[in-house]
Amino acid sequence: MLVPHFQMLIPEQPEVESSDFEHAARLLKHRAGIALGRHKREMTARVLTVRAGKLGLTCISEYLAFLESNLSSPEWNAFVNAFTINHTAFFREPHHFEVLSEYARTRRKPLNVWCAAASTGEEPYSIVMALLESLPRAETDVSVWATDIDTQAIGRAVRGIYSLERLKPIPELYLKKYFYRGRGSKIGLARVKPVLHDMIRFGQFNLVSKAWPEENKFDVVFCRNTMIYFDKRTQVNILEHFAAVMKKGGVLFAGHSENFTYLTKSFQLRGQTVYTVVR
Ligand SMILES: C[S@@+](CC[C@H](N)C(=O)[O-])C[C@H]1O[C@@H](n2cnc3c(N)ncnc32)[C@H](O)[C@@H]1O
Repeated sequence: MLVPHFQMLIPEQPEVESSDFEHAARLLKHRAGIALGRHKREMTARVLTVRAGKLGLTCISEYLAFLESNLSSPEWNAFVNAFTINHTAFFREPHHFEVLSEYARTRRKPLNVWCAAASTGEEPYSIVMALLESLPRAETDVSVWATDIDTQAIGRAVRGIYSLERLKPIPELYLKKYFYRGRGSKIGLARVKPVLHDMIRFGQFNLVSKAWPEENKFDVVFCRNTMIYFDKRTQVNILEHFAAVMKKGGVLFAGHSENFTYLTKSFQLRGQTVYTVVR
């Protein structure tokens, strides 16, 4: 027997008008620098329909108009958070942590490190483990500022709780030293010990904002696997800001597919995806 009204069995997919999609892409680019690809249309429709519903608005265009007329609304965080890609891992691109340890030993202390796209925390905690292992007085000689535009990701970084699966790249010795293993209802999870947590100051920072930290402040900047989301002009702008806030001889760590050599003269390649600021 034919199924009557079979169309009603197909779940309704929210759609986004081209003009709304372009509007959302413009707002995201302007606020966060992130380029929204057209392959994200469906996802954009889904996410923005839910966000509009939460605010009691009836459609995506009303939602976008709300954002535009409420520039300091916390809804902007939810909007940006929905489009960030937070993929990260402990000791991702492990050679960087060897270079960092070596460099840190030779630098005058205190050593100021900025992890500028810290996502859910795996990167700054890896930085701190590497420094605790290579410097005799890292706890007092090092300060790490870990930031991201994504408030949800930073919230998870602050909590510092990870599944054991995510901890696999960490050497067993470090696991014992720097993590508490969960018991009972927390089995399968681990939490960073205060010795790691307390060396990091977490916060939100938008790399396309105008209010940058003071000049000449950082010895080391990590900004890995993030510039790929920005267009060339935005990348150049951010690199010039990094150059200004770094101390003479400071080093910048980039992601495995990022090459800054053709973008700026303010940095010189010193090794695989590691740059020295030029003064
Ligand atoms: C793919 S993750 C990279 C995480 C880590 N750096 C790594 O390499 O493992 C990219 C991060 O960049 C952040 N991001 C995107 N746009 C940003 C912006 N305008 N300012 C600061 N962070 C941004 C995202 O929220 C995301 O957590």
